[in-house]
Amino acid sequence: DKPISILAIESSCDETAAAVIRNGREIISSVVASQMESHERFGGVVPEVASRAHVEQIGFVIEQALVQSELSLDDMQAIAVTCGPGLIGALFVGVTAAKTLAQVAGLPLIGVHHLAGHMYAASLSDGVEPPFLALIVSGGHTELLHVREDGVILRLGKTRDDAAGEAFDKVARALQLGYPGGPKIQQMALLGDPKYVAFPQAKLGEESLDFSFSGLKSAVLLHLDRATKAGQDVRTADIAASFQRAVIEALMTKTRLALQQTGLTTLVLAGGVAANQALREAAKEVCRELHVQLAVPDTWLCTDNAAMIGAAAYMRYKQHKLADLTLTGRADFPI
Ligand code: KG4
Ligand code: ZN
Repeated sequence: DKPISILAIESSCDETAAAVIRNGREIISSVVASQMESHERFGGVVPEVASRAHVEQIGFVIEQALVQSELSLDDMQAIAVTCGPGLIGALFVGVTAAKTLAQVAGLPLIGVHHLAGHMYAASLSDGVEPPFLALIVSGGHTELLHVREDGVILRLGKTRDDAAGEAFDKVARALQLGYPGGPKIQQMALLGDPKYVAFPQAKLGEESLDFSFSGLKSAVLLHLDRATKAGQDVRTADIAASFQRAVIEALMTKTRLALQQTGLTTLVLAGGVAANQALREAAKEVCRELHVQLAVPDTWLCTDNAAMIGAAAYMRYKQHKLADLTLTGRADFPI
């Protein structure tokens, strides 16, 4: 059979990315232009700045992805793009580019949900076949999803306030560690005592699979405030380690419960926070204990990229779930 090559584009937040993926599994090329430096001085993503940077970079990023693949548009079977959820101005840049390319090249267009992309990033390293439970933890989302055999997705739980990655970013800012916070906290936590402070766990009911991280974030801020007022040195590493432990504990408690409630035997851990080494270890432990198979993307495929969009697009391609030129970006886009 002729291989199916898909050119995929991602621009939902602060990375401009393009990739060429073959048969949903093989990364032929992947280019990610980060806007980290543009957002670092604001301590977070500024939507206007993001849109502008996408417009400036997208042409170059797509060109690079094609050049590195040593293929041309004529060799593609489809063009795929993230159509939501995300920053609306940022999404429009990718969607418009994808529609234009699809129309000019006469290729089918595939709209991909950003979280489906995160989930199927795991299929670029491990084989991932539904049914499975997915824990998606990123800067904008914290969700437990039941992906059924027929591809239908049921949402079992979500965060009621901050996303896990958002909590990492906010606590990192309070600890003056910089942006994005996740990697900085992970690094700092290696030097600290995770039992230094027993930060509280949110109480949302024993059966609930929802999450809440704003209380934890406030507890860290309060702790810092008290230490400063008492004239004590801030034990950054110990606080980072204790905070990280509390987040992981919250995530694993609900994941364990969801696995028990559903009886699912595969867990997919995905999203930017899944790059966290301590979380990956904790998930491994839970899965070993429950005899569940764990699928996690390679670390570099956890944060936003277009390879994962190509992987998810291949699923839709096989199911003939194509978009047309009415495709648009959607800031809120329930999975
Ligand atoms: O998936 P992603 O790239 O963008 C969204 O779709 O939101 O996730 C970015 C988030 C940021 O909040 C970042 O701090 C977090 O993922 N993150 C991490 C790590 N690497 C990235 N959090 C914890 N530990 C990490 N190593
Ligand atoms: Zn993401």
